[in-house]
Amino acid sequence: MECKYLTYHGLLLPTISHSEDSLEYFEKFQVKDDDVFAITYPKSGTTWMQEILPLILNGGDFTPVKTIPNWDRVPWLEETRAALVMDKMTQPRLMVSHMPYELMPPSFFSSKAKVIYVARNPKDVVVSSFFFHQMASCLGDPGLFEEFLDKFLAGKVMFGKWTNHVRSWRLTDLGDRILYVTYEDMIEDLKGVVRRFSDFLGQKMSEETLEQVVSHCSFNTMKTNAMSNYSLVPQELMDSKKSAFLRKGISGDWKNHFSPEQEEKFSAAIKDEMRGSNIQFPWD
Ligand code: PPS
Repeated sequence: MECKYLTYHGLLLPTISHSEDSLEYFEKFQVKDDDVFAITYPKSGTTWMQEILPLILNGGDFTPVKTIPNWDRVPWLEETRAALVMDKMTQPRLMVSHMPYELMPPSFFSSKAKVIYVARNPKDVVVSSFFFHQMASCLGDPGLFEEFLDKFLAGKVMFGKWTNHVRSWRLTDLGDRILYVTYEDMIEDLKGVVRRFSDFLGQKMSEETLEQVVSHCSFNTMKTNAMSNYSLVPQELMDSKKSAFLRKGISGDWKNHFSPEQEEKFSAAIKDEMRGSNIQFPWD
């Protein structure tokens, strides 16, 4: 399978899911005040958010998460599917995006739309992405892990540098329109995080519904949900025999893949680029 990327404001975007038309749609999109965005750098918890958010906003109705694929249920605003499904969505609309802050559509900045930004330890992001490139033929061969680490640090991967992405979103002036969480927070205390989401979104949730949502959004349950585990994607595009999309779902898997030298180089490069940003993460 031929792998192709287009370049958008210096960012590499895979043409399997992005096009000039989809990006024009993204730029002209009219954000409404009650829209809700989950923003992530790739491999940081997007699919998890596509499962959790509909359940919070529709009061624990499991029909959408059991009948609609994640990419249509909570579409990526920059991807080709967005234009096909957006008109059918009811308010409040739920969307995900991997775009950095400064590239969001103009209407986003003048709206009151809310944002949940999920960040993940970049060492686990790069490991997850490495295995994702192995299974998703449309992204191209990642090469050796060592080579992929260099590409990641240089930002020669989809959506560019991790550091640019997190800096752009952590240093916004969105005030109480944005909530920051980490993938690691979600691993550690999913129930607490779902409660924070529902409070942030002004949705009341009974203890019983909360328990059901947390149970449904566990890694093992999501792995068996065909609407969320990418098993609907043909094998020639995503080969789950090479690696599952929902692969391990843990924090700290990087320890199984980085050599001490790689860890030192990677951490130094990330720290250097985050210097002066005053951004603290639990994995620092
Ligand atoms: S993508 O391609 O950007 O949409 O990928 P994304 O969904 O952001 O990230 C995929 C990783 O998230 C893990 N994941 C989960 N972990 C724990 N619990 C749940 N419920 C869950 N759902 C998705 C998924 O397994 C990928 O991480 P790795 O480390 O590869 O397992």
